[in-house]
Amino acid sequence: MIQSRGMSLQAILFDAYGTLFDVYAIAAESERQFPGNGAVLANLWRDKQIEYTRLRSLSGTYQPFDVVTDEALQFACRKLGLALCPQVQQQLMAQYNQLSAFPENLSVLQALKQSGMTLAILSNGNPEMLAPVIHAAGMTNLFTHVLSAHSVKKFKTAPEVYQLGINTLGVGAQDCLFVSSNGWDICGAAWFGYPTFWVNRAAAPLEVLGVAPDGEGRSLNDLLEFVRQRSSLSGAASYSTKPITPTH
Ligand code: LAC
Repeated sequence: MIQSRGMSLQAILFDAYGTLFDVYAIAAESERQFPGNGAVLANLWRDKQIEYTRLRSLSGTYQPFDVVTDEALQFACRKLGLALCPQVQQQLMAQYNQLSAFPENLSVLQALKQSGMTLAILSNGNPEMLAPVIHAAGMTNLFTHVLSAHSVKKFKTAPEVYQLGINTLGVGAQDCLFVSSNGWDICGAAWFGYPTFWVNRAAAPLEVLGVAPDGEGRSLNDLLEFVRQRSSLSGAASYSTKPITPTH
């Protein structure tokens, strides 16, 4: 049985990359450009991208996420000894504007929206990066807000970024569920005070940081069931879906 903790869910905040939007295309394009090195390049690129967000946040040297992403790509290629010409660099970066949503997402988001839940995105991505993928996924009308780290010139897991959610949505942190596929993002959100649901698509191990998500699943379908269970505990709307395993 999922513990209630006395919250009544009113809003859900979603991370973007890897949670709503599938970054698989980036590995595929990396492989197309650098046969045999696609997976290692995509992994190093993503790790560097996140590392650079942390360095820039900690040091007060903010640059927008697309700049950070481009710089991380340059480093990853340098490290792997891959020659990155401007045309390939542009083609790889362009993938970020063409990401597709995971297949279950649209119907799950529609069901959550129909239940009366306020839905918003809270992402490290700058607005120019987020707008085209949200539009292409047909999700523009589902989210009341697209909140970007860009507005506070820091990246998650800086508390100022998570603060954007409650400031904008006008709800208490305990009434706003934070949803991410990134274990580190779940920790940051939980430290801030949000209940969390980890869309652990990669079946990754839990970070050893003294934080556990309130719920965990493999896809957004599992999120829908988690919210249904929480809602029925508090007497709100119900949905019809399959069961999931709460983490504690
Ligand atoms: C985001 C990245 C970190 O959307 O997934 O914030």
